[in-house]
Amino acid sequence: MKPLQCFLCLLLPALAGCVPVPSPGVEGDPLRGKIALTQYACQSCHMIPAVPGSKVYVGRPLSDLSKRKVLAGTLENNQANLVRWIRDPQAINPHSAMPNMGVSERDAIDMSAYLLML
Ligand code: HEC
Repeated sequence: MKPLQCFLCLLLPALAGCVPVPSPGVEGDPLRGKIALTQYACQSCHMIPAVPGSKVYVGRPLSDLSKRKVLAGTLENNQANLVRWIRDPQAINPHSAMPNMGVSERDAIDMSAYLLML
């Protein structure tokens, strides 16, 4: 983080962009989602901005997810599909290398809120 931004965070956290604000039309709590991403260890296979993890990634970086048109090569990119994918990748692609991690609906919604904000 840049020194000026740190300084602004102390004074005006919301204005300096330190408190995540969901993207328009997106449900869920991105801050809680960021914590959930680490609890399920998604960062062990994906590069996720501001979540320290592995340096050898199996899955694609999730840094530019909000700009993608298609998820996992098959799904239209929207929040509902992102939640479906996170909860059960094999339901969409039985050959996917991403495991079903038993993510609850609430956690998946919050994770998607964080990922779509990036
Ligand atoms: C064991 C490694 C592994 C773990 C753990 C993992 N993933 Fe994945 N993930 C993958 C792989 C591999 C793909 C590509 C799968 C495909 O296209 O079939 C993928 C694809 C994705 C995609 C679609 C990305 C794109 O480029 O379209 C999203 C979103 C995603 N993962 C989110 C998550 C989240 C959230 C978690 C934590 C709940 C998670 N992943 C945990 C391996 C993993």
